[in-house]
Amino acid sequence: HNRVNSFLVCFLAVTCGCICECLDPLNATQCLPSVLIIGVRKGGTRALIEMLSLHSDVVAAQNEVHFFDWDSHYQQGLGWYASQMPPALPGQLTVEKSPAYFTSSKVPERVRHMNPGVRLLLIVRDPVERVLSDYTQVFHNHLQKRKRPRPLEALLLRAGEVNAAYKAVNRSIYHEHMRRWLATFPRTSFHLVDGDALIREPLAEMQGVERFLGLRPQISTNNFYFNRTKGFYCLRQHGHERCLHESKGRAHPRLPPDVLQKLRDFFHEPNRKFFQLVGRAFDWD
Ligand SMILES: *[C@@H]1O[C@H](CO)[C@@H](O)[C@H](O)[C@H]1NC(C)=O
Ligand SMILES: *[C@@H]1O[C@H](CO)[C@@H](O)[C@H](O)[C@H]1NC(C)=O
Ligand SMILES: *[C@@H]1O[C@H](CO)[C@@H](O)[C@H](O)[C@H]1NC(C)=O
Repeated sequence: HNRVNSFLVCFLAVTCGCICECLDPLNATQCLPSVLIIGVRKGGTRALIEMLSLHSDVVAAQNEVHFFDWDSHYQQGLGWYASQMPPALPGQLTVEKSPAYFTSSKVPERVRHMNPGVRLLLIVRDPVERVLSDYTQVFHNHLQKRKRPRPLEALLLRAGEVNAAYKAVNRSIYHEHMRRWLATFPRTSFHLVDGDALIREPLAEMQGVERFLGLRPQISTNNFYFNRTKGFYCLRQHGHERCLHESKGRAHPRLPPDVLQKLRDFFHEPNRKFFQLVGRAFDWD
């Protein structure tokens, strides 16, 4: 009887547009995500998914699956994608995050093909800070691979002007990427999270996410405590405390003030366009 029930769950899930793989023939199933954190890279996606996981009605994939942006994964099909998800109980939301989804042009249509009703979370932060953080990550990756990192200024400027073709700059031109997503999904499919505010005041941002996802309010002040040494909030759940990985708090490179100003000036217009597109302003200029 239970077996029949769980197959029924799977069957219903398939007909409603979300494949579930039966794990345990009773009730634990691996379902396709109904919520995706699509980006942005270095915007705070790890913090967001960890904080969302504090909610008991949420299960999150541990790794970035890169299903929609890597052809080698996409070709393995939705059944494979579901098999990468943690087991979920009926009523729990499955969430996956791969920040490269936001900037990869073939992704929106592929996501829509999986489920046009999927809910999309986009966490953004000051695009200039994001460029510096993006560069810092690549810099450390190169050091680890014993490759010589290129200096930021050489990447950032071409003939004295900001180089929009430099990937870290391109990824921060949010309106270009968002326009592509909005050609595929209505604005109501998206919830924007302010990554700078998430660091300062995690609770308020997470309550906004709970409302958007229709989750009962559960995340509370008790889930956060400020670590003075680190200078940011750590998480507490069922008496366990954990802070995000060290690399998340790495120092940014120093740029000469005139180059930094050039970068700020460069983003002024793209930022206006993004605010207009999403109908919301953020406190970056
Ligand atoms: C369903 O799974 C939960 C947790 O995995 C377990 O506690 C429960 O007993 C299971 N229900 C049935 C009917 O097996
Ligand atoms: C940013 O990159 C995308 C491809 O990922 C490209 O289509 C677009 O033209 C680039 N924008 C700029 C300003 O270089
Ligand atoms: C606070 O951060 C420091 C430095 O990373 C760490 O050693 C310490 O364990 C943290 N304390 C708590 C209570 O999380």
